[in-house]
Amino acid sequence: MSALALSRIGHAYFGRTVLDHIDLAVAPGEIVALVGPSGCGKSTLVHIAAGIVEPLRGTVATRYRRHAMVFQEPRLLPWANARDNIAYPLRLSGAPRHERRARAEAAAARAAFDAVDLDKYPVELSGGMRQRVAIARALAVEPDFVFFDEPFTALDAALKRRMQDLVIEAAEGAHFGALFVTHDLMEAARIAHRIVVLELSGNGIAGERALPGRPGEREDAEVFATVQAFLRADPLFRHIHDVDERRVA
Ligand SMILES: Nc1ncnc2c1ncn2[C@@H]1O[C@H](COP(=O)(O)OP(=O)(O)O)[C@@H](O)[C@H]1O
Ligand SMILES: [Mg+2]
Repeated sequence: MSALALSRIGHAYFGRTVLDHIDLAVAPGEIVALVGPSGCGKSTLVHIAAGIVEPLRGTVATRYRRHAMVFQEPRLLPWANARDNIAYPLRLSGAPRHERRARAEAAAARAAFDAVDLDKYPVELSGGMRQRVAIARALAVEPDFVFFDEPFTALDAALKRRMQDLVIEAAEGAHFGALFVTHDLMEAARIAHRIVVLELSGNGIAGERALPGRPGEREDAEVFATVQAFLRADPLFRHIHDVDERRVA
């Protein structure tokens, strides 16, 4: 039974087709990396899958209880401190104040956000800290499915790695499944169980590859080798131009 199943999804903006014939299923607890060149419709597909955008064609079936989203920009409320930003979805769902506070603090710890910074406002936080707040806000609702839309693209390489490890650990600990959009094949090969490649024009799924090993248990050398093999020898990845190839050279 899939946590998320997209069937024959198609979408258009102002009459211009951006996605068509998309079939994609994610099993409970599975992390699927969705890759494809910029503009091929990845974000649109995530918005459709998460129920934010109504698709023009096709159906979305979900079997998870609760989902959360993490975007490229942290999207924090500027007038609320880190604690209140993390607790915000809990407030919307009517959780009592003391419970919100405890859950926000627990989620912050899981996102490796320092408790001493919980009273700070977004403007006082670095980019990495803000993204930790966004992850903590997602974890606070105790989701069993998380949509990630290029969450670490704006972060430097070292920080990106730490954040990836955090997501791997959180997914393992809380058993959530995820659809993780990225254009970074290294990231996909570290974090996911499976990589799905969208067609250039969003016209269907070009193909998919199971990734060897398990997220969190892969040696760096293995991840490098996997990505190198994809880029050198696998026709599925021929049209992925915007990956950072310097890191696998
Ligand atoms: N709200 C919108 N209105 C009109 N066109 C859009 C809108 N959102 C995205 N697009 C267009 O749809 C295509 C796919 O966009 P998007 O889903 O953001 O791709 P990706 O996330 O893969 O970069 C792009 O050509 C983009 O310009
Ligand atoms: Mg996008």
